[in-house]
Order: sequence, then structure tokens, then C-alpha cells
Amino acid sequence: MNRKDYIRSILPSVGSPKEDLVEVFAPINIALIKYWGKKDRELMLPYNSSLSVTLKNLGTKTKLCLSDKDMLSINSQIVDEDSEKFNKVFQFLHLICGDDVKFRVDTENNIPIASGLASSASAFASFVLAVNALFGFNLTPEDCAKIARIGSVSAGRSLHPGFVLMNHENDSAVTNVLSKFNDFCVGFCIVSEEEKKYKSRDNMDYTVSSSVFYESWLQITKRDLQEIYPLIENGDFYQVGKIAERNALSMHASIAMLNEEDRFYLKSESLRIIKKVQTLRDNGLPVFCTVDAGPNVKLLFQYKDIASVASAFPEMNFYEKVV
Ligand code: DP6
Repeated sequence: MNRKDYIRSILPSVGSPKEDLVEVFAPINIALIKYWGKKDRELMLPYNSSLSVTLKNLGTKTKLCLSDKDMLSINSQIVDEDSEKFNKVFQFLHLICGDDVKFRVDTENNIPIASGLASSASAFASFVLAVNALFGFNLTPEDCAKIARIGSVSAGRSLHPGFVLMNHENDSAVTNVLSKFNDFCVGFCIVSEEEKKYKSRDNMDYTVSSSVFYESWLQITKRDLQEIYPLIENGDFYQVGKIAERNALSMHASIAMLNEEDRFYLKSESLRIIKKVQTLRDNGLPVFCTVDAGPNVKLLFQYKDIASVASAFPEMNFYEKVV
């Protein structure tokens, strides 16, 4: 099946808009068990399952209306219609709504874009929410997630709140993971806001084809998911943090094994913060970290420790209590 038929199997017909202009918001999500590598690039199906936590206030606001021609602005800057970004956004919207309809899309992100802070996840999730609202499709969150995944796999997880599982053995469907946590926080240490040279999409394809560690990554991440799932249900912060941190470092190890310095996302400042997290933890502060496709480090901690974490990490630019 190609992606067009896949979308049509979820959304048989488009019809005419029900609203003139819609405004929606979708948050970013941070994977505790990372997805890294696709087994099917046409249908954007990952090789491994992933488990993430969705934020509340950090993400992408999108305004969408019909227009005479396709127009896109990101953070109030008009995007060139010959750019890769423009094409990616409108290929996705036309895949859902057909080629005849033209859109004006204005997005605002309250996080740096393309620096491994999952802004493409919140952007694609917001586009699906926006067309759903504009045309009155009444799609379920599960169907929205399947369509968002075609834009960017991690976007599929942004449409559910709290802890979210994307199961690669079940059409990569997403479901909520019920949890006893009520004070789980994610803090952001912005090491660099520069757009990365190798986007996650290219770098993961390259890791699948070229990393001698990729097979091991698949085994490690399967084990990590099996172990973390019941710990999330039980709200065992220490063990969840431990597995999330080792999972992120294993993903970066699979990239490091490419032996191509430019493809490795961690900078010396990222490594310094990771080491500091580990040292502080050895000294009794329950804090862990995770890193995505960029150099920025995310801290995982409990809200009861916010004062100690904030004073130990002047590097932390902002944080959210996520559940
Ligand atoms: C490291 O979902 O951005 O953040 O599906 O090609 O758009 P595409 O990639 P993307 O990759 C996310 C990779 C990650 C891990 C994760 O969020 O699970």
C-alpha cells in the first residue's frame, strides 16, 4: 500500500471546509524509549516500538485557512516556496486533502526548531489537528496519530497526553500508558539552537544501513521497553530514569559507531551535562537525562526536587511538570 491509499483508508473523503479559519496547538513529546530507524519509509513504520511523555505547554500553534495559493510562515517569517520545509509541509497537507485545495499556514513554536527538541513532532501533529478542525473530519485521536505519523513518526505520539506507547507490532498504533506518576518533570538544557547538519530522518536511515551497532540497538531497545513499561505503571521514578538514560545513550552509541564525527549529535557541552547528571545522582540527587537528535540535554526529575535541580543546573533553561 502507498501512503495515499493508507490515508484514504483512514479518511475516505474530504468534502468542503466547515470553518473559515482554525487555530490549534499540539505539544512536543520526549521519548524515554527512542524510535530510531524505519522498516517502511513509505508508510513511516518504525523498526522498534517507542514510549514517550507528552508535554503540555511547549509545542506548535498553527493557524490554517484556505487560500488562493499555498503560503507558509514559521515564527512570523515567510518560508520560501522552493525550500525543503515548504515542500514537506504542503506535500503532507495535500496528501491528506488533495491537490486542488490551497492553504495558508502560520505556525508559531515556543521551542527552538530543528535542534532535536521535537518541533517537527508538534508541527505535524498540529497540522493534522488543524485539517481535522477546518474540514470537520471528526477523526479519533488514534486516527489523527496514524496520519501524523506519515508526516513524522514521532508526531504520532504528540496527539495523546501523558505517557504514550507507539507499538511497532500493531501498525504503530499509539495508546496511553496509565501511570501512578503525578510529579514527573522534563527540564531543557539548550546547548545549541543551531539547525543540525544531519536531520534525524537521514541520520537514522544511515544508522540502519551502516552502523555495526544497529542490530544490538534493536535488542537493547526491546529489552528497555519491556522493563520500563511496568515501572511507568507503578510510578518508579528511579528505575524509569535509569532505563530512559541508558536507552538514549545506546541510541547515540549506535550513531557513534558510524565513526563519522559530523553525524554524532552530542557536543562536548552535552557530554559535560550528562556527566554532571551522573555525578549529582551518585551524590543523592535523583536526576536523569535523555537526548534526542541534537546536542540539547533533557533532564528528568520529580517536582519535589525542583529547588535542588534548579540550583544544581543553571544550564536548565526551562522545565515542565508533565504529569
Ligand atoms: C531521536 O520522528 O523526527 O527524537 O520520522 O523521520 O520524521 P522522522 O523522524 P523523527 O525522529 C525522532 C527521533 C528521536 C527519537 C524519538 O523521538 O523517538
